[in-house]
Parts: sequence; structure tokens; C-alpha cells
Amino acid sequence: MNIRTGFSTLSRFILAEQRHYPEATGDFTLILEQIAFAAKLISWEVNKAGIANILGAANSSNIHGETQQKLDVFANTKMIQALDHLGLLCGMASEEDEGIIPIPDKYPKGKYLVVFDPLDGSSNIDVNVNIGTIFGVYKKLGVAGEACTTDFLQQGRRLIAAGYVVYGSSTMLVYTTGRGVNGFTLDPSVGEFVLSHPDMMIPERGKIYSANEGNFERWTPAIQKYILDLRKRDNPYSARYIGSLVADFHRNLLKGGIFLYPADTKNPKGKLRLLYEAFPLAFLVEQAGGRATDGTQDILDIVPDSIHQRVPFIVGSKLDVDDYERYVKE
Ligand code: AHG
Ligand code: MN
Ligand code: MN
Repeated sequence: MNIRTGFSTLSRFILAEQRHYPEATGDFTLILEQIAFAAKLISWEVNKAGIANILGAANSSNIHGETQQKLDVFANTKMIQALDHLGLLCGMASEEDEGIIPIPDKYPKGKYLVVFDPLDGSSNIDVNVNIGTIFGVYKKLGVAGEACTTDFLQQGRRLIAAGYVVYGSSTMLVYTTGRGVNGFTLDPSVGEFVLSHPDMMIPERGKIYSANEGNFERWTPAIQKYILDLRKRDNPYSARYIGSLVADFHRNLLKGGIFLYPADTKNPKGKLRLLYEAFPLAFLVEQAGGRATDGTQDILDIVPDSIHQRVPFIVGSKLDVDDYERYVKE
């Protein structure tokens, strides 16, 4: 076991990371710590979901016309409350809010922008299946002050940090600042995230594919052939699909494999969201040695034109994603 494992808390780890950047002020450290704080609150709420009148719909819908679950609203509020008062951010954008989220007038503005999917896998909340939170951090380009929508339309390559939290049999936070990927498990007895998965790397090739095969008839023949060929191998790939992107991604990061949510006739631009889902996980997977594509280009090279843009998202082990691209480019 790595000597750091089981002893380094997230705070200690972030502090050690900060020392690699002599110009660092500690501001960024505070942002990550606050995201971890929101994650603990969400984790606690998720764990008591069955008994605390927090299951079910919230009688509201989000910008995408999807019914919001009470936990969607709770998680969104906690992320905003954890970050809006620091004096370090100039704005936020969430999957759950139509426009960008301004920093209240009473707080000073800083140079960072945070984007998030507060609760990923909403359809799995009521059935006690893993769900998650996804986040990304950028620096504001140009003049300081309050953020405007165009500040959020940066290429994914400009992320300075990204990560996710998975609320599963244990709660884990996995993040990168562009110097590798590290995973922390929440020790509920002391309420601390503890380094459990240092220097995470995704296997170069996996044996798992994750896609909603109910959409098979809506895919192009090239995508159908790719999947059929995975099944026809002497050692066929295993199908694993949870329906929570974070959970499917996390499993494939550890075991190797490919996750696909391509465009289909119902979702011609794909279903998943570029800013809140695809960019952060693409940034993270590249740091772990994997790849993410929309079929024609690396996800991180896309320049968004709106904050709620959707994208075909294929992510995972490098050689598997290379194969997929070959099929769809032929
Ligand atoms: P969200 O709950 O944040 O809206 O995201 C749901 C996403 C993602 O978690 C998952 O991969 C995908 O939707 C599942 O979609 P299908 O039910 O169409 O397979
Ligand atoms: Mn999501
Ligand atoms: Mn969501």
C-alpha cells in the first residue's frame, strides 16, 4: 500500500499539491475544500433519503424540462451556498439553472468560475442506486468582475480542475488539477475524505461497454456495428449500464472500458451536457491516460456556443475509444 494511503486527508493532500505552484495563494485550495464540504452534506442527505421525506419529485422542472427531484434541488442549493460567499468566484453555472448564477452583491468577486451537475443520475435516487456530483473549475478570461455567459464558453482544455463525487456503497471524491488523478473515500466516523486511490490510471483497454442499448434502433449503422462486434468477440465485452454517468464512469475508470452516449434519432446532438458532464470527465480521463470523443474530435477541443449545450459523449480506455472512432469515421 502506498504510504500516503489512509493517512492523507483531502485538505492535507490539497495543501501539498499547492506547494507545486509557488505563486499559489491558497484560494483554489479553499474552493476544492468547499466543494468537498457540499459533497459531505449531499452524501449525508442521500444516505437518509428513504426516511427523510427527500425522495420523489420537487414539483418543479429544470431548464431541460426534466422533473427535478428534491435531491436535485437540495444538492444544487448546497453547491451554491458552499461557494458563493468565498470572494473567490465571479459566477457559477449549473445544470439546474437556466442562466449563470451570479455572486450576490454583498460578497466580493474573484477570478474563478465553477460549473456543476449537482446531482447526476436523478432517475436512480428513488431506487437506492449510486448517484453523483460533477464539477469543473475555470479562471475568468479578460477583465475581472462579475462573470457573463461568454466567460463560461471556454474550451474544456482550459479547465484548471475537475472532479466528481460518487455516492455509493461508500462516498468517494475523485479530482484532478492537471497533475494526475487522485481518489478520496469519505470516512463517515470522522467526516473526512481520506486518500484511498492515489495516482489513478485507467487501463489502456477494458472489457466492459456501457450504453443504453434501448436506444440501439436509434443509432447509426456504424455505432450498431461497433457494439455488435464487441459482443461477437471470442471473449465478448461485458455490458454494464447503471444509468448514472458518474457511477458508470467511475467503474470504467477503475476497471477499464468504454461508456457511450452517442447521438441518436431522438437526441440528434446527444443527451449529456458538455459543460457539466462531458468536459469535467473528459479532463479527468485524459489525466488518467484515457480518452473522450464526440466521435469526430476530442471532447476537450470543442468550443461551446451555449452553456446548456449537449454533446455525444464517448469516454474511457484509450484503445477502446480509438476503436470506436475508427468505426464511426469509416
Ligand atoms: P442527470 O440525472 O444529471 O440529468 O443525468 C442523467 C444522465 C446520466 O447520469 C446518465 O448517464 C444518463 O442520463 C442516462 O440516460 P438514459 O436514461 O437515457 O440512459
Ligand atoms: Mn447528469
Ligand atoms: Mn443532474
